Amino acid sequence: MTTFIAVLYIISFALFIYGLMGLTGPRTAVRGNWIAAVGMGIAVIATLLTPGMSNWLLIALGVAIGVVVGVPSARKVKMTAMPQMVALFNGVGGGAVALIAWVEFRTTEGYAHEPAYVAIASLFAAIVGSVSFWGSNIAFGKLQELISGRPITLGKLQQPVNALVLIAAIVFAVVIATGGSAELLMIGLLVAAGILGVVVVLPIGGADMPVVISLLNALTGLSAAAMGLALDNTALIVAGMIVGASGSILTNLMAKAMNRSIPAIVAGGFGGGTTVASGGSGEVRPVRSTSASDTAIQMAYANKVVVVPGYGMAVAQAQHVVREMAKLLEAKGITVAYAIHPVAGRMPGHMNVLLAEADVPYEQLKEMDEINSEFAQTDVALVIGANDVTNPAAETDPGSPIYGMPILKVNHSRSVIVLKRSMSSGFAGIDNELFYDAKTSMLFGDAKSSVGEIVEELKAL
Ligand code: TAP
Repeated sequence: MTTFIAVLYIISFALFIYGLMGLTGPRTAVRGNWIAAVGMGIAVIATLLTPGMSNWLLIALGVAIGVVVGVPSARKVKMTAMPQMVALFNGVGGGAVALIAWVEFRTTEGYAHEPAYVAIASLFAAIVGSVSFWGSNIAFGKLQELISGRPITLGKLQQPVNALVLIAAIVFAVVIATGGSAELLMIGLLVAAGILGVVVVLPIGGADMPVVISLLNALTGLSAAAMGLALDNTALIVAGMIVGASGSILTNLMAKAMNRSIPAIVAGGFGGGTTVASGGSGEVRPVRSTSASDTAIQMAYANKVVVVPGYGMAVAQAQHVVREMAKLLEAKGITVAYAIHPVAGRMPGHMNVLLAEADVPYEQLKEMDEINSEFAQTDVALVIGANDVTNPAAETDPGSPIYGMPILKVNHSRSVIVLKRSMSSGFAGIDNELFYDAKTSMLFGDAKSSVGEIVEELKAL
């Protein structure tokens, strides 16, 4: 039986890795997800075959609750609410690891009779799993707007409190590792680590949230791998390491895309309101607004149009009508490209997924570095529901919270048309100089309706 279980585990890892390869491109992503899910199914079956497995009723109940809660929420979730969904699912993973560590502590009555590596790995898993669970819940609350998305800090006490709870968790771990077997010690460790998760994530705000979620995701993976080591469960080690490694790479890539260092993000404070949103200063600055028909005419006489999609295009679900507009422009001999910022929208790859859904040819999707050199030869940059990722303050205003974040240099184009509903700020909550630029016109309205009107105008030309 042990060999059979080992073979099943090997098949499941192979499927995880093969599935993960599929996630590198939108065309193969859905299949990749299915393959990895089958791998996970096999890993679960293999674990259930472990000799001595009992409590079948409880296991069945757990699986049933998971299916009833997980499947409908995953099916119903809106694309725009995906980050908080990821935060929640990720947190549950970390919480499960922390609970397993607690159960193991009870079963073995402390770690006095266990090898040192089991104690160290289990205690690491308990701390990191608990940090991840509570931190992810706070991240979920912020993104779901159940709590303020702005940094919530303890002021000068912040760093001392963070240090104190971290030290408390470590002290509990050391006492347990050196023979302490009282259950209160384990509870104390989990509580201290939980408070650490809360106090570390609460001060983080604004655009740093996606990086934090990715970081917590990597931590969950590492805690699962450590637990796998303690339990001698290869499936947990491999799956945990895959999540830990890919989560760490993604965290790094996202931090780089926003020109933020990970320690600076964890130290918190982004979006603390150092810059005012539009109108917040009381000053009303004029902007030039335009109409769908003028936009259509301007584009019809262009040689090159670059579409700059952002979160607003996702909310409006305007991708299909955008594709229709692009086809009409192409039929007139106009070159159309799409400028993709790595953090446009609310999750990595958000724009790629939406545009792939609307059958936009991949060769028209241009990454930030490639398209930035092309804006100078662009007649019209059509910004559709994008804001922060086009904000020149990232380059020009050292006082701006997004200063240093690489942006799409749409202001280098000959003209810019911005489609959004109002002068409201984007995710980072800051004003955008681009809207006041002399070559920018604003087309106010819902992105889907506005592009729909442009399409009608283009057809009539
Ligand atoms: P944002 O800066 O958030 O701006 C989106 C704009 O879309 C808003 O200013 C909004 O203006 C407009 N909008 C909303 N609904 C609309 C609709 N129905 N029709 C037309 N416009 C609409 O978006 P972005 O430029 O894509 O930048 C992304 C931001 O989110 C960055 O700050 C990024 O750091 C952050 N973030 C990114 C991720 C990832 S990983 N992609 C995850 C979380 C957060 P109106 O209200 O005036 O319409």
